[in-house]
Amino acid sequence: MKNKNFKKYFKQYEFSNVWAMLKNNQRDPHICNAHFKDKLVVITGATSGIGRITAHKFASQGAHLLCINRNLQKSEQLKQEIEEQHMVSCSYKIADLSILADIHRVADELAQLNSPIDVLIHNAGVYLTKKEVTGDGLEKVLVVHYLSSFIINYKLRQKLKQQKQARIILINSEGHRFAAWGLQVSDLNWDKRRYSGLKSYGSAKLAQLQTMLLFNEQFKNSGVSIVAMHPGAVKSDTGQENGVIYKWFKRNMLDKTLKPTNISAEAIYYLGVSDELDNMGGKFFNLTTQEEPAPPALDYEEAKRLWPISLKLAQLDEDRTDSSIPK
Ligand SMILES: NC(=O)c1ccc[n+]([C@@H]2O[C@H](COP(=O)([O-])OP(=O)(O)OC[C@H]3O[C@@H](n4cnc5c(N)ncnc54)[C@H](OP(=O)(O)O)[C@@H]3O)[C@@H](O)[C@H]2O)c1
Repeated sequence: MKNKNFKKYFKQYEFSNVWAMLKNNQRDPHICNAHFKDKLVVITGATSGIGRITAHKFASQGAHLLCINRNLQKSEQLKQEIEEQHMVSCSYKIADLSILADIHRVADELAQLNSPIDVLIHNAGVYLTKKEVTGDGLEKVLVVHYLSSFIINYKLRQKLKQQKQARIILINSEGHRFAAWGLQVSDLNWDKRRYSGLKSYGSAKLAQLQTMLLFNEQFKNSGVSIVAMHPGAVKSDTGQENGVIYKWFKRNMLDKTLKPTNISAEAIYYLGVSDELDNMGGKFFNLTTQEEPAPPALDYEEAKRLWPISLKLAQLDEDRTDSSIPK
C-alpha cells in the first residue's frame, strides 16, 4: 500500500532532531521534590513495569491512587502494598482496555467521579509480534495504546475542564518513529497490510500523538494540559504475551541494555507535578526533556482526518454541542 505522505514527510525530517533524540536518550530525568498530598492520580496499567513503580512514586508523595487494571489479583496486591507502605488510599477498577465496552464503562465512571482527577496517566500497553483481533473486530495494539486513551480523554473533557486544573500524561514512545511515513488512516486495523509488531506499535503511538494536538486545542485556557512522553528504554514486563523466541530474546539480549523503571517514574512524577509544565500542553518529552517528535506527529491536517475515524472505531458519538471539536 503506497504511502501518499512519503514525500511530504521526507522533506521535513531533520538530522538535528534525530541527533537531539539520541542525546536525550542519555539524559537523566529532572527530579521534582514537591509533595502531592491528597491529590488524586488515575493511572492505567499500574500492575506491572512502569505503571507499578509510578503508582508507588505518586503514593510516596502523598497522592491517592485510582488504578485501572485488568487483573484482579495483582490489583489487590498493589492496593495492599501501597496502602501499607505509603498510608494513602489505592482503589482500582477492573477493565480490559482492549475491550470497547470496558473502556466506555470506566470512562463513564471516571466522568461521574465527584472528586477532581489531578493527574490522569495513560500508561497501559502491550507489544505483540503477531496481530490479534479483539471481540470488537479491532487490532488489539491500536485499542490498548490508542483508542482506550482516546475514549477516556473524550469522555472526560467536560469534567476536567470544569475542574479548571488537571494534567493528562500519555505514556507514548520514541517508537512512534517506526511509523516514519505517517498513518494509513484507511487501514488503521491492519486488514490490508502485512502486520508487524514494531509498525503497529509505532502507528498506535503516532495516532495518540496526532490526536493530542486536537485535545490540546480543546483544553486551551482551561487549566487542563495534555502532554506525551517517552518513559526511557526501561526493563519492564512488556512482551509477555509473545512466543518463546521473543521472550528469550527479551530476557537474554534486550533486558541487558535497558535501564531501571524508576527513571520513568521520576519523569512521570515531574511531568505530573512540576510547575514548569503549566504551559507546555501538546508537547512531547523524552523523559523530562522537551523534544521534537517525528514530522507526522505534528501533522495537524492528518490529525483532523484521524479524528472522525477514531470516533467511529471507538463507537463514540460526535459531540455537536462542543464547538472546540474539529468538524
Ligand atoms: N518499557 C519500555 O522501555 C517502554 C518504552 C517506551 C514506551 N513504553 C510504554 O510504557 C507503557 C508501560 O509499559 P511497560 O513497559 O511498563 O509494560 P508492562 O510492564 O507490560 O506493563 C503494561 C501494563 O499495562 C497493562 N495492560 C496491558 N494490556 C492491558 C489491557 N488490555 N487492559 C488493561 N491493562 C493492560 C498490564 O497489565 P498486566 O499487569 O495485567 O499485564 C501492565 O499493568 C506502555 O504504554 C509502553 O508502550 C515502555
